[in-house]
Amino acid sequence: MADEKNIFIFGASRGLGLGLARTFAERGWQVVASERDKSEDLHAIEGVSIVTADVTEPSTYENLGFDAARFDVILVNAGITGASHQSADKATDDEVAKVMMTNAFGPARAGRALLPALKDGGTLAFMSSLMGSIADSSGGYELYRTSKTAQNMLAKGIAEQSAKERDIEVLSLHPGWVQTDMGGPNAKLTVEESVTGMADVLQSAGGGGYRFVDYKGETIPF
Ligand SMILES: NC(=O)c1ccc[n+]([C@@H]2O[C@H](COP(=O)([O-])OP(=O)(O)OC[C@H]3O[C@@H](n4cnc5c(N)ncnc54)[C@H](OP(=O)(O)O)[C@@H]3O)[C@@H](O)[C@H]2O)c1
Repeated sequence: MADEKNIFIFGASRGLGLGLARTFAERGWQVVASERDKSEDLHAIEGVSIVTADVTEPSTYENLGFDAARFDVILVNAGITGASHQSADKATDDEVAKVMMTNAFGPARAGRALLPALKDGGTLAFMSSLMGSIADSSGGYELYRTSKTAQNMLAKGIAEQSAKERDIEVLSLHPGWVQTDMGGPNAKLTVEESVTGMADVLQSAGGGGYRFVDYKGETIPF
């Protein structure tokens, strides 16, 4: 169908990625979503195609067999908090590498590798965080914050160097503070509230440029 819309969500086994897969499926989109291990919740959503991929292992996503220009939106959602102490002073080399590879370099590599599967004029989105805003920072959460700041820088680079020529918009998305395994039970937003807003933002995006925006579409300072 000519007006059929397609999205690939990288990291959809639970939390926000799962919620977005469900919301886009309900909105009539063709959804392809990834898991690392079998997610019963993801498999329970009708009509979603599921692939297995790890954002830190290029061999798992480089040969997924997506047709060129298949997707209107590709969202790299996968992310971790990093070591619980969150301290730059305490962190081991392995802890730094893990959070940076999962939240920044892995997503950037995956986003760039998947660009051929995105339509000209489409949207490449990365799940960032307000915690990655240098302007907003009050310090703390050093591992997580620096990984998301790095992700934003890499996303801007992809926008300028790889996406612009094809009128692809690159988004760094802040979902709000959300009740997931990562956000915890005291978070302000339900998954439903956050993903409804983010789905609206993603549906109306595309057409070149770069934005760092929240789930309501409001701009966040770098
Ligand atoms: N919740 C919040 O308040 C909040 C706020 C700001 C930003 N965010 C961002 O939103 C995104 C989703 O977070 P969430 O709250 O939904 O967290 P979550 O419930 O902990 O879910 C994290 C998701 O990322 C996946 N993932 C982790 N490492 C991966 C890897 N190496 N390869 C592929 N997938 C991987 C997980 O898959 P597995 O099930 O296989 O582990 C899971 O699907 C993250 O990027 C996070 O930083 C969340």
